[in-house]
Amino acid sequence: MCGIVGYIGKRPALPILVAGLKRLEYRGYDSFGFFALNDVSHFLLKKVGKISEWEEKILETDFKGNLGIGHTRWATTGEVTEKNAHPHWDCNREIYLVHNGIIENYQELKKDLVREGHCFVSDTDTEVFSHLIEEYLKNQNKLEEAVREALKKIKGNYAIAVVSKRDPGKLVVARLGAPLLIGLSDGEYFIASDPAAMISYTRQVINLDDNEIAVLTPQNHFVLKEKPIERIDWEIKEAQKNGFSHFMLKEIFEEPEVITEAIKGRIDFERGLARLGGLEQASEKLSKIERVIITGCGTARYAGMVGEYMFEEYAKVPTKVEVASEFRYRNPLLDEKTVLLAISQSGETADTLEAIREAKRRGSLTLGLVNRVGSSIARETDAGVYNRAGLEIGVAATKSFVSQLTILALLTVFLGRKREMSLVMGRRILEEINKLPQLAERILKQSDFIKELAEKYSEYRNFIYLGRKYNFPIALEGSLKLKEIAWKIHAEGICGGEIKHGPIALLDEDFPVVCIAPSDSVYEKMRNAIEEVKSRNGKVLAIVTEGNREIKELADDVVYIPKTLEMLTPILSVIPLHLFAAYLGLELGLDIDKPRNLAKSVTVE
Ligand code: AGP
Repeated sequence: MCGIVGYIGKRPALPILVAGLKRLEYRGYDSFGFFALNDVSHFLLKKVGKISEWEEKILETDFKGNLGIGHTRWATTGEVTEKNAHPHWDCNREIYLVHNGIIENYQELKKDLVREGHCFVSDTDTEVFSHLIEEYLKNQNKLEEAVREALKKIKGNYAIAVVSKRDPGKLVVARLGAPLLIGLSDGEYFIASDPAAMISYTRQVINLDDNEIAVLTPQNHFVLKEKPIERIDWEIKEAQKNGFSHFMLKEIFEEPEVITEAIKGRIDFERGLARLGGLEQASEKLSKIERVIITGCGTARYAGMVGEYMFEEYAKVPTKVEVASEFRYRNPLLDEKTVLLAISQSGETADTLEAIREAKRRGSLTLGLVNRVGSSIARETDAGVYNRAGLEIGVAATKSFVSQLTILALLTVFLGRKREMSLVMGRRILEEINKLPQLAERILKQSDFIKELAEKYSEYRNFIYLGRKYNFPIALEGSLKLKEIAWKIHAEGICGGEIKHGPIALLDEDFPVVCIAPSDSVYEKMRNAIEEVKSRNGKVLAIVTEGNREIKELADDVVYIPKTLEMLTPILSVIPLHLFAAYLGLELGLDIDKPRNLAKSVTVE
């Protein structure tokens, strides 16, 4: 989080910028910078450290320039150095800008700009803005138009203030997902990330909205509303099977790639932080929340149940999962200290949408974890994170579920590091998350074996799935996948410790039990459950961690998954269950892409 200020009007800008920026140092203070200009010269200073160490020297210059910008930095991309402090400029040193936010696609943009001959002097993402604007100013002379074109290339969030020596009578600002206010007074304008920076000069403010660009001159201002051009972010190949017999299989085999996409550009190993740009504008509120409610339907809700365990164990934030279709009918207790996290692949599920609206009515912050860009839930929540899992055509949620779990793990670090999670723990979790794509690939290499298991178990018409703690939701998800895809079979997910409290009456040799029993804190308890099943002649298909030697004596069949952190095991343990359901559905001659009675998105309550 950084702070930006700007001024254009009838007074020298520097004293106003310095005073205003000092009020924003709570947003970050590892370095700072100012740029001010008049018709014949300019003032530029960037330093590591606090403004107060340089305030006197800056004001002693008595620089006479009525237009300027300032920035106080909390480094995200690029070390804490003078060259990485803002403002940043273009090759010709004509355009100067300050930025609060994160450009998620800055590497690819930077590569293109360097290829076109641009010289970068910093390691930041922000500098990309300056060179993009420089490019667009080559074929027009209006700064705001060049800014508008540049912003279309940006993925991420921003609040920026831009000035140009070629257009000196103008301050251009824009925002998407990060706060920006415009203060109005007679013949002058102020801009800042927070009202504190301008309250001494004016109380009349305009809150710029997302996708708005404002042009400020000493005489007047106008706002351009940029209707965001939603980009379909999937390729036509995603709408094809690419050699697979079914979309569901293709999408299960995309699960390693989906984990990679979920984490790309979102891990800051140095600081042990998860960078979720779409949550930037809610960052302050998220630092103060006292409770999280996670809601969703079906598979999305099961992802939320894993998130509940993660948030409470590692982020130390009280968390509860609510069935979206029940939520608003049971009069939930909500307040401004509660945040509702809605999980939905389609972003259109009516039950989940209504839960969001109820939470908003009661004053809670709402976040969305959504796959479909621009969907209703993405638009109606206050902030959120996109899965970036690409198009999911199979009616059964598979890769989107794996993506949801991955982002929930990132969100655990994001929330935890705002609370008691140490740098070391943050780094540890992120390092393990980063290994998941190749671990998932290792599991998929067992697909032929899992297909054989599906053939072996295709005669059975009833299954129980057992799991505990992080893998109880996976027992629910595995059983849902089986019954919705191989719908001639009934399957029930049960918490491993519950089998002995009744359901065990069902067990005999015609009632296989899938036991998810990785080497975690409840493995011994799961082993007891397996023994209880075996003592009733039940067949056991066990999902265990590589290296588990004793399981061969206990279970009838075993699928091994690689070792990882306990909180991350669901991301791996679900993969064989998705494959098992798909192959069993095919074994029964069913259409696994379009199971009977189902729809990809349930848009009715
Ligand atoms: C998942 O396999 C099911 N098709 C279903 O439970 C689905 O997860 C649920 O309807 C929620 O959909 P959403 O994620 O699009 O909101």
